[in-house]
Amino acid sequence: MKDYHIIIITLLIVLINNNGVLFANESKAIIEKVEKLLSQLTLDEKISMLHGNSKFTIAGVERLGIPEWKMSDGPHGVREEINPHDWEPAGWDNDFSTYLPVGTALAATWNRELVHEFGTVLGKEARARGKDIILGPGINIHRTPLCGRNFEYMSEDPFLSALLSVPYIKGVQEQDVAACVKHFALNNQEYERFQINAIVDERTLHEIYLPGFKAAVKNAGVLTVMSAYNKVNGKWCSENKHLLNDILKDEWDFEGVVISDWDGTHSTIDAALAGLDIEMGTNKDDYNDYYLADELKNAIKAGKVGIDVIDDKVRRILTSMFKSNVFDKSRTKGEFITDKNFGVAKKVAEEAVVLLKNENNTLPLELKNVKNIAVIGENAITQHAAGGGSSGIKTKYEITPLEGLQNKLGDKVKISFAKGYKSTTTFDWENGVTDTSKPEADYKRILINEAVEVAKGAEKVIMFIGLNHHFDNESTDRQDMFLPYEQDRLIKEVLNVNKNVIIVSIGGSPVDMSLWIDDVPAIIQGWYAGSEAGNVFADILFGDVNPSGKLPFTFPKKLKDSPAHKLGDYPGKNLNVEYKEGIFVGYRYFDSFNVQPQFAFGHGLSYTDYGYKSIQLNKTEMTSNDQIEIKIQVENLGTYNGSEVVQLYIQDLESTVDRPIKELKGFKKVYLKSGETKDVKFLVDKEMLSFYDVNSKSWKAEEGRFNVLIGSSSDDIRLTAEFELVAADN
Ligand code: BGC
Repeated sequence: MKDYHIIIITLLIVLINNNGVLFANESKAIIEKVEKLLSQLTLDEKISMLHGNSKFTIAGVERLGIPEWKMSDGPHGVREEINPHDWEPAGWDNDFSTYLPVGTALAATWNRELVHEFGTVLGKEARARGKDIILGPGINIHRTPLCGRNFEYMSEDPFLSALLSVPYIKGVQEQDVAACVKHFALNNQEYERFQINAIVDERTLHEIYLPGFKAAVKNAGVLTVMSAYNKVNGKWCSENKHLLNDILKDEWDFEGVVISDWDGTHSTIDAALAGLDIEMGTNKDDYNDYYLADELKNAIKAGKVGIDVIDDKVRRILTSMFKSNVFDKSRTKGEFITDKNFGVAKKVAEEAVVLLKNENNTLPLELKNVKNIAVIGENAITQHAAGGGSSGIKTKYEITPLEGLQNKLGDKVKISFAKGYKSTTTFDWENGVTDTSKPEADYKRILINEAVEVAKGAEKVIMFIGLNHHFDNESTDRQDMFLPYEQDRLIKEVLNVNKNVIIVSIGGSPVDMSLWIDDVPAIIQGWYAGSEAGNVFADILFGDVNPSGKLPFTFPKKLKDSPAHKLGDYPGKNLNVEYKEGIFVGYRYFDSFNVQPQFAFGHGLSYTDYGYKSIQLNKTEMTSNDQIEIKIQVENLGTYNGSEVVQLYIQDLESTVDRPIKELKGFKKVYLKSGETKDVKFLVDKEMLSFYDVNSKSWKAEEGRFNVLIGSSSDDIRLTAEFELVAADN
């Protein structure tokens, strides 16, 4: 090859960063600007940027034109304004946000383009509300069905979480807002979240709990990461050198900023040296008393922390500010609570709803065949936007399920409503969920009787049951997987008088349905589906929208079937929780240990049927430098148009280490008109065959035979083919 060819190729490689974006000039300009500012900042000014100066800002430096950096909670809307120095709402009348469907709902769409649209809306709304950083996405893995924050997070599967967090982050950051992926790492339970020590082995850490964060850094260029409250292997996450400096910053080359979770910092020198860049929310009245404030200055003066450590932190902050155009006059202005943004919330909800069960085509209901329906359940009239903890938002509107049905049916169908049950809980940050044991037994009886009466006379009964944000809530885990407020009893009594029951279950995590599931012909998982939830449920129930959501987690039959509860350890002993189930989280466990779930990971029905046919591999042997192309055909066999999520799992047939029976390594959502057939292609590469090898501390793909499994869910595999990974010829 000619010399100048080599020079050009080398130059191109240098110019192209991980995202494939030409960036050298831009980054050179940013480096110069950052270094210039850095050289002008005094030590006090630098220190002032390393900790909060209000609940959600760090100080700017006016004389140099550095503005305050303003953060806001996500992950599914921009949080309402609170007072600068306490947690009370500020009482503004222009701090609304579109209520986007929550994390589990978003993940249930399995639609990367739509997730990107979601991120774009969030970014635009953040800009319009004057924010620089959105504290989302939350991507902790669903280790236990009980975790109070599962609803904010995406999945039990690291691959799905990774693939969906990337378009979320890109969508936000393209709007000149930094995303903040959280909570790094292993904040997988809310019980004792400030104290708990998660004990995990390196393979499990790398295979299950880190891939989402790695993808956020490597593939989305996330600008900030939030350290978690808990300890990992004995060290607080905010001062965990292994996680922050070694893995995040050194191994993954993260150039952005590590922000502590609010009141999650415990030291000055340890935190500063381990890689924490900004301390937020510490429970001290004077911001100078924060760990990364006066004490840090003293540590520098005493020579315990080098000035290079401080400069590195400030450099990261300034670089992230430049990358999100904070100093740019033409920075995106954004827009919020527009029809367009609510439209995206609606589209996400439409693709999120999961049809769990549909015996004898109970659904969709046909308008012309229904004259009167009963609607039962408190969740039919409950709004959820404001709940859940820090993710709660103040929205302009939220359509409840009952309103959605009324909007759709008008006076064409008679709707009779009965509450059937009533929340008897209260939630506060100090005490978590308290059951006030009201209403009294009599009142419960009255509510159930009313529901039974309403159900008796109806052609169809639609029950909106499930959880609410007293249970799916930050800082608390559920006690069990049962429905609260004696809803099981309500459902059974309604079933006694009317078999035509359709259940719509609201919530962010699985509930135990075993007491009535066999008697109910149709069940929908409705999540917390955002501002348009009620309209979308009505569209799904009456067939104007064909469901296409797939579960991003396994629905166990019983809590004890779930691996953290059966093989593992939850909620831990003496503030230690050992991840004894290791890599066998979610379907990796259910499949490998032959435990029948209620509904499998990836499950979700449609009003049409999809046929899978003709799997073709372009070769049956590959080397580790190579790829195999898999081509299948999927056909819409029914009368409804619809979208199918084609899922690709890999099974290692010859491994020297324990591996799950199968692991998700690809998926595509394809829209098919009735009768239409499409080709779906996947590329399999070495990375998809690898496990984390603890000896070499790296990912390793062993030679040998593998199966590729293509299916409609993890327990509905339609096509398989075998191939082999062979040694490369030298
Ligand atoms: C939560 C974070 C949140 C922060 C600020 C913490 O309690 O864990 O997710 O971003 O508060 O509200």
